[in-house]
Amino acid sequence: MFKGRILSGMRPTGSLHIGHLSVLENWAKLQEEYECFFTIVDWHALTTSFNETESIQENIHEMALDWLSVGIDPEKSCIFVQSHVKQHAELHLLFSMITPLSWLERCPTYKDQVQQLSKEGKDIATYGFLGYPLLQAADILVYKADTVPVGEDQLPHLEFCREIARRFNYLYKREIFPEPRAVLAKVSLLPGLDKRKMSKSYNNYIAINEAKDALQQKVRQMVTDPSRIHKTDPGNPDICVVSTYHGIYTPDEVTDIQESCKQGTIGCVACKKKLAQQMEVALAPYRDKRDYYAQRPGLIKEILQNGKEKAEARAEATLHEVRKAMHL
Ligand code: TRP
Ligand code: SF4
Repeated sequence: MFKGRILSGMRPTGSLHIGHLSVLENWAKLQEEYECFFTIVDWHALTTSFNETESIQENIHEMALDWLSVGIDPEKSCIFVQSHVKQHAELHLLFSMITPLSWLERCPTYKDQVQQLSKEGKDIATYGFLGYPLLQAADILVYKADTVPVGEDQLPHLEFCREIARRFNYLYKREIFPEPRAVLAKVSLLPGLDKRKMSKSYNNYIAINEAKDALQQKVRQMVTDPSRIHKTDPGNPDICVVSTYHGIYTPDEVTDIQESCKQGTIGCVACKKKLAQQMEVALAPYRDKRDYYAQRPGLIKEILQNGKEKAEARAEATLHEVRKAMHL
């Protein structure tokens, strides 16, 4: 018996980095316990990137590859592209009729992001961007999902989604929508190579599908204890990126490694070499699986088409009820 129904999604921003792995590995686990819908939300990508849509198909493809490579399983989960299932748009429109503007305007993510991006010279004070959380609510509620694995930054959107569900049920006097709960994804503990937050825009990331040589190269670039010059100098692993990574990729030996670092009995070169090996062992299976799918674009298409059909049937059943409740 499934514990419930999950919907989660990501904007197609191209291939993912290892900071995203904890989220995806969590999804892979959840698909054993829940009925899962995982969607690549291309319409949401348009809210901020409406003027640069050329690479959207490629980004969708890369994201699908990353998901499949880490074990999101099309036999277990429904994997699809948001814009393939038009019912999200219909529900978004119908919800827009009952959504007070003030609810959207007070959403903490809204003003912050508009301001942030306007500093970068981008005007996203658009109708579409204001409606971002509403489209997200439609994504979730169109499947009547009761559980949504997300990061902490998404909690306001989830709360907003619950308010929409409540308002709809109240206005049309039917318990059509559940009030979904968030399950918080584990935050990634991995900093970027330079110790800042790992991000594509800082170019301090390691891709999930990083090639073996590039992986070694990147580990070599990681920021270590800067006061260590000779390999016999005592080091401070607490301020070293490599040491944090060993905690994830070499969990059994991390205490010994840190001790050797403090005593100056291990050099940074050797320490990094060991990390690169460990990471290679962890990431190689993902890369292999990715290659398998990358060589079969027809298969990806088929997976997304099957996902679309399954999602659509579910979504259409909900809309049938919605239209009826609203006398449409
Ligand atoms: N807003 C989410 C993010 O940026 C992406 C998203 C869109 C989503 N629709 C969703 C997440 C539905 C969970 C459920 O991460
Ligand atoms: Fe970091 Fe390892 Fe060098 Fe210590 S030995 S500073 S943990 S890279």
